[in-house]
Amino acid sequence: MESSVNIEFGLNLEVLPMSLLIRVKEIAYEEGIRRIALIGGAVRDSLLSKYHNHHWGGLKDVDLIVEGSATQLAEALQREFEASRISKLHIHKAYNTVEITIDGISIDLATARLEKYEVLAENPKVTPSSIEEDLARRDFTINSIAIDLSSLSLIDPNNGLTDLVEKKLNFIHNHSVEEDPTRIIRAARYSARLDFALSPDAIHQIKTTLKRWPWQWLHTTSPELAPSALGVRLRSETELLLTNEPWELALEYLQDWGALLLFDEGLQNDHRWQQRLLWASKLGVKPLTALIAGAEDSCALGNRLKLGEDQQRLLRDSLKLNTYLSSIKRTQDRLNWTASRWSNELEKPNWKPEAVLISICLGIENWEYLLRWWDVWRKIKPDISAHKLIEDGWDPGPKLGAELQRLREEMIDLEEE
Ligand code: CTP
Repeated sequence: MESSVNIEFGLNLEVLPMSLLIRVKEIAYEEGIRRIALIGGAVRDSLLSKYHNHHWGGLKDVDLIVEGSATQLAEALQREFEASRISKLHIHKAYNTVEITIDGISIDLATARLEKYEVLAENPKVTPSSIEEDLARRDFTINSIAIDLSSLSLIDPNNGLTDLVEKKLNFIHNHSVEEDPTRIIRAARYSARLDFALSPDAIHQIKTTLKRWPWQWLHTTSPELAPSALGVRLRSETELLLTNEPWELALEYLQDWGALLLFDEGLQNDHRWQQRLLWASKLGVKPLTALIAGAEDSCALGNRLKLGEDQQRLLRDSLKLNTYLSSIKRTQDRLNWTASRWSNELEKPNWKPEAVLISICLGIENWEYLLRWWDVWRKIKPDISAHKLIEDGWDPGPKLGAELQRLREEMIDLEEE
């Protein structure tokens, strides 16, 4: 049932760039586009500031949908606004979407569309649609409230405003999770950030979909064959969760819903993620890398999520280091190692130094020595230079190098006395 709310009672219009939006609407009209609406986070957040006194954190970006061609509108905007006012313009023809920045305001323009998922969780096929149909294909009711820029009234066919007022998070339809499982991560992000309760129906949809596992891809599928569009979206939603949101709460939700299974079973059963992520933040490790390090097969997961090659390398190297240290443990007593012995072991060329940080985050046995090496020992240099040794009568060559190394080891061990 459609609910129509008078905008004057419903919105904080002063937080929105209305004069620019009205000008965009006029240009759209001149192009024969009859309907244009503001949608997404800007509408939701302005309503939240109105109804729940949520702090208005500033306008991030503006999402506009049109019944017509977004590309055509972008070209008209380019003609109408002076070049100095437009600082960015990207047109994505395949989806008829446009990113344009006018007067420093970043606008995402899209043609209203229907989506058809021929392969679940992959990118959908799209066809032009009405604004209402576009709203119906979205994730949550609170994200499907639009402002019609002609009548300045709310378009709210999914009763998002009621859910927003009641602080409820509801999927719009029953296929939301199977079509796009990254919406589970979004559910955790919004629940934690907005302090909204995910509805029992939505939790049921998440749990039953995960149990059914309707996707073609399995954890055992070789990472190269896993759907790459899903991997990339999963990565970016998780990065947002870990960097922009109350991540502890959000990850707790995901684990409660059984949804860390989207990554792998190891992470779903992992109860050390909090400790790992706190260490990551102290040591400057990327939080997603630290999270993934606790997975059953961290390297395969890093590959599946299309993590940057540098981060995938750290995961591989940390695994090598951990395997090496535990193999030594079986044959020798590491606890008798001196500080310089630890340094020599950790400075082997088999791994990047930063991989040691991942192993610290993982809390491997004797991690304290790894931390001491990172903080102190690795920075120690001999207090005499090669140049001075030569002046003192040493010949340049391997023996001189060995002497410098001996002096450094001596200093490292002195540091610990
Ligand atoms: N959306 C969706 N399904 C997704 C991702 C996005 O339906 N998997 C829709 C939602 O309607 C959302 C809009 O696309 O409102 C824009 O997405 P995004 O920019 O990620 O979110 P915002 O709504 O702008 O909110 P925020 O960035 O604050 O999370």
